[in-house]
Formats: sequence, structure tokens, C-alpha cells
Amino acid sequence: MSLLEENQATDLEQIVGLSRRGFISAGALCGAAMFLGGNLLSRSVLAASVSAGNSKLLGFASIAAATSDTLTLPAGYTSSVLISWGQPLHKDGPAFDPSGHGTALQQEAQFGDNNDGMSLFAFPDDDNRALMAINNEYTNYRYLYPHGGMPQSAEEVHKALACEGVSVIEVQRQDGQWHFVQGSRYNRRIHGNAPIRVGGPAAGHALLQTSADPKGMNVLGTFQNCANGKTPWGTYLTCEENFTDCFGSSNAEQKFDAAQKRYGVVAASKEINWHPHDPRFDLAKNPNELNRHGWVVEIDPFDPQSTPVKRTALGRFKHENAALAETHDGRAVVYMGDDERGEFIYKFISRDKIDHQNPKANRDLLDHGTLYVARFDAGDSNPDHPKGQGQWVELSHGKNGIDASSGFADQAEVLIHARLAASVVGATRMDRPEWIVVSPRDGQVYCTLTNNVKRGEEGQPAGGPNPREKNVYGQILRWRTGGDDHASPTFAWDLFVVAGNPALHAGTAKAGSSNITPQNMFNSPDGLGFDQAGRLWILTDGDSSNAGDFAGMGNNQMLCADPETGEIRRFMVGPVGCEVTGISFSPDQKTLFVGIQHPGENGGSTFPEHLPNGKPRSSVMAIRREDGGIVGA
Ligand code: FEO
Ligand code: CA
Ligand code: CA
Repeated sequence: MSLLEENQATDLEQIVGLSRRGFISAGALCGAAMFLGGNLLSRSVLAASVSAGNSKLLGFASIAAATSDTLTLPAGYTSSVLISWGQPLHKDGPAFDPSGHGTALQQEAQFGDNNDGMSLFAFPDDDNRALMAINNEYTNYRYLYPHGGMPQSAEEVHKALACEGVSVIEVQRQDGQWHFVQGSRYNRRIHGNAPIRVGGPAAGHALLQTSADPKGMNVLGTFQNCANGKTPWGTYLTCEENFTDCFGSSNAEQKFDAAQKRYGVVAASKEINWHPHDPRFDLAKNPNELNRHGWVVEIDPFDPQSTPVKRTALGRFKHENAALAETHDGRAVVYMGDDERGEFIYKFISRDKIDHQNPKANRDLLDHGTLYVARFDAGDSNPDHPKGQGQWVELSHGKNGIDASSGFADQAEVLIHARLAASVVGATRMDRPEWIVVSPRDGQVYCTLTNNVKRGEEGQPAGGPNPREKNVYGQILRWRTGGDDHASPTFAWDLFVVAGNPALHAGTAKAGSSNITPQNMFNSPDGLGFDQAGRLWILTDGDSSNAGDFAGMGNNQMLCADPETGEIRRFMVGPVGCEVTGISFSPDQKTLFVGIQHPGENGGSTFPEHLPNGKPRSSVMAIRREDGGIVGA
């Protein structure tokens, strides 16, 4: 244990100790709150009911924060590794090479790196078989190459591209435990150089044409694949997030236009640096390649020969995930967040109805429809539980001021430059929208707003669903659509939880809302998932320093909430330096799959194998109850 880690552990013990003394019972808690002042009183009342454990949904005891390099779970739960970065997908495929000397072609035949969003697709005729489509968001040069630094050749860029995209794998259940099936004919990589078709209104547009693809219809690759969606017709949606970071320019003086700037382009690609070795990513040579990324891509996992399609009708931005719902009259709805400080929340509604009898009839459903962006009012002034109203504003050429006079020649340009169109209609700038999920119980929609240290600066005043300046902890927004119909142009919103650190601070602004206690506190909620019973699982990608404002929160973690009571319990703590992201359930709800991404991002981890001097490997974990029961119940 390093001195730093030793100090962190001490901090943690102090805070847990403090919290145990101060908050051991409802009575003690109220006493402490009254002693500290009236500001804490409303917090303490809800915290008291929380400590009573009155949730009927949550059947496990909340665990303590932790800083160890392990997966920590409640008593009675166990975990196993389903698959890790570099595992060979095919029979006799190349084994993971921890030295970093493995080739790009070998990586293309292995499970990708930094797994993120994922969906499980059950075989209709066999309870013991399923496919999983799993995003591979990016890669860690520290572990990818023998030299541990930036790519130094075209081959090394190729290898990085081979780490990203999507892995489709078959899994099978034996004796209650799910295993990866090496050699299944369904196992497949769709990586950063894989052929992908463009569909929807922007297909073939001049802004998508390049010298390699003069028709603007066929793109090489999907990369920076963050989270996901699963359609009712059995396809997988993978969402391209931080694509801009992959581009740079050999001309350090290159002038970028307003759209390129809005999407965050800079000449010097600091962290990824592909453009010196692959001209596809050099904006001085291929400026339109940038426009061919930042989309939602649809994949049919059951057809290994199928070509994935970029669905341009859903708009281009830094997509986090895609949450599917259905209008009362049967059309598909896709809710989407754009993960950047001050960017927006979107909704797409398909033109045509979902054909539930004939899944293949929905093949191009996402190519036709209408895109909207969310506008929130200021809400009421209740600091502990802000709520208000909102509306969806249409992003269609010729409406709401979106036309040639505001810089849009046609609907394709509206979609390619969706951020600019959304600004024209005055959409609300949010605190980094991450995952969105729809409750299976009541259709309410939940969205993580992970953090935003720039809230309060010019153009981003605090208020409404983004109530705090310099928001380091994040919050979870919730809305209910008008008439409970996802087609409605209106909704009512509230904040389900405002994260904070009540062990250090008083007052909602830094201590969080009343359902945050010293026992369950966390920061930067990111992933979300509902199970069939309606438990809301919350995954974090936050500051895991366990120090300063984050003291006592430990490593990144997964919590579980009862949406009815607001109670939140900590269910799992991940290993050192990881982000917890990606969640899926077996059809019987007895296995929870969760992603451990970039363990040891800055060193200090050998998760999950714990070999001497071993490398940490991003992994999908399978979590079960030792008694075979439903996870979380
Ligand atoms: Fe890939 Fe916004 O997280
Ligand atoms: Ca995320
Ligand atoms: Ca995040």
C-alpha cells in the first residue's frame, strides 16, 4: 500500500466512523441535524426513513465504500469474469499478449478494450443461450503498446482502431452460471475499420463525401462507442461518443468553421493522436471524415454477415446511449443525451409504427422520423427537490427558425449539425447528459447529468434541472411525459437525486438531496439500468480519489434505487481506477452483467487476474446470488 493509499484508507475510516457515530439511528441523526442547524433538518427526515430500510424492492444491505482493487458485493453475492479485453473470440484465435506486442489483426479477432454499454439478446428457443453485443469504447495506450505511449506508426493506429467498436459474443448457461462461448459462429468484431453503411436523410450528403467514398454512403468503422440501446425488433444500437477527439490536423494553423468548433475540433489531438499516422483522421486532408462519425449505429447481432447502419435521422452529436420507448399509437421513440458540458437532451419519434409481428419489417424504421430537443423551464425554488415543466422542440428544416437564414440548407445539415440547430431553438444547456432509461413500471424517464464544473459560467446559468454552480457531484433528472404518452410535446420534470457529500458539507448545494446519506454517497452518476421489477441501478464514473470533496466515496461503484421511496443503497464497489459502466440482465433476472472499464487507468490495479506485475484488463462481470435468487431482491 502506498502512502497515498494509506492516507485514503485512513480518511475513509474516519468518515465511515464519523458517519456511524453521527448517523447510527434516526434519533441520533435528527439530533445531529438539529445541532448542525435547520438547513439539515429536511434532509434528516428523509434520511431517517431511509435508514429504516422501508423499501420493498431492495432486498440487500447497503455496503460500505471501499478503495481496494477488488469487486466488493453485499453478503450472499458472488461474481465471475464473463470476458476480458483481448480474449480470443474464435476457435484457435490469438491469445491475449500482455506484453503489448500483439498485432492489429490479432486484436481484430479478440474481445475489444474498455467495454461499455451492452445488451443481451435471448435465443427464442433456448433458455440457456444468448448473444451479447458489447461496446468497446476506447483503449489505454499505457497497456496497449510495449512503449506505453502515443501510437508511433500506422500499425499502432490500426491496433487502437481494432480495440474499439463492438464485440458480439455468444454466452451459454451451465449450472446457473453464464459463460462466454469461444468459437461460436455469432462471435464477431465490428471495429474501427469495419465496413458500415449510412442510412437516413444525411446518407450521400456532400458533407459526408470523401475521396475514399465519393458517394458518402459507406464509412469505415465505428469507434468511441459509449453506451447502447436495444430495439423491440431485436437489434442493437451502439452510440458514437467522443469521436472528435480522434481527429487532428497536420496544419497547426488550420482554421475551423463554426460547426467544427462546436463539435470540439482542435488541430493537436492530445490524447489519441491518430492523424500523424493515418490521413483519414487528418482534417487538413479529409475534413469530411469528421462528419461520418458521431452517429447511432444499428446492428443485427443474429446475422453475423449483416452490415451495420449509421442512422442519421437520430442526429449527430456525442451520443451517450439510446433509450427505446413506444408511443400510444405504436411508433418508436429514442431518447438520447449529448455528453458535453452545456449540451442537450434529444428525442426521436419514428414516422412509422413498430411491427411487433414481423421484426424484419422494422429494418429501416429509424431512417424516417422527427428529431426533437428538450427545453426546460426554471422550475420551482425548492432546493431539495426541484421540479417543473418542459417541452420538446422540433428540429426540422423550415420550422422553429431552422432554415437557410440560420445556416441550414436542408434537413441533412440539421442532422449533421444537430447541436447548432438545437441552439437555434433555444434548447436547455444541461450538465453533461449521460445515460437515459425508461421505467418498465410507469414509463417515467431517468437521465444522469453527471457533473459540470462550468455551470454558472456565461451562457450556462444555474437553475431548473441544473441547479448548482460548479457542479462536481451530478444529479439524476426524471420526467413524466404529458398523458404518459412518449409522443407528447410536453413533460413534467423533477430531480430524483442530487448527489453530494453530507459527511463533509451541509445544505443541498454540496451535501446533496435528502436521499443521499454518508452511507450511500457517490459522485458523477453515469450508467443507468432498470431491471424487470423496476429497480433503478446507478453506475458511477466519477472522482475516485477518495479525497477532498470526494472523501469517503471510495472507488467507482454501482448503487440501486427504489424509484418509489427514493431510497438508494450501495450494491457494488469496483476495483482501483475503474469506471463502472454497462449493465444487462439474464432473462430470469438471476444474473446481472456489469462492465468494469479501465481498471488501473493510472496504474495501481491488476484486476481481475491479480497476476504478479500483471496488466489490468477491462472485463464484463457476471454477478449472482449464492442462493440462486433474483439479483437485488
Ligand atoms: Fe462514454 Fe459519457 O461516457
Ligand atoms: Ca458514460
Ligand atoms: Ca462519465
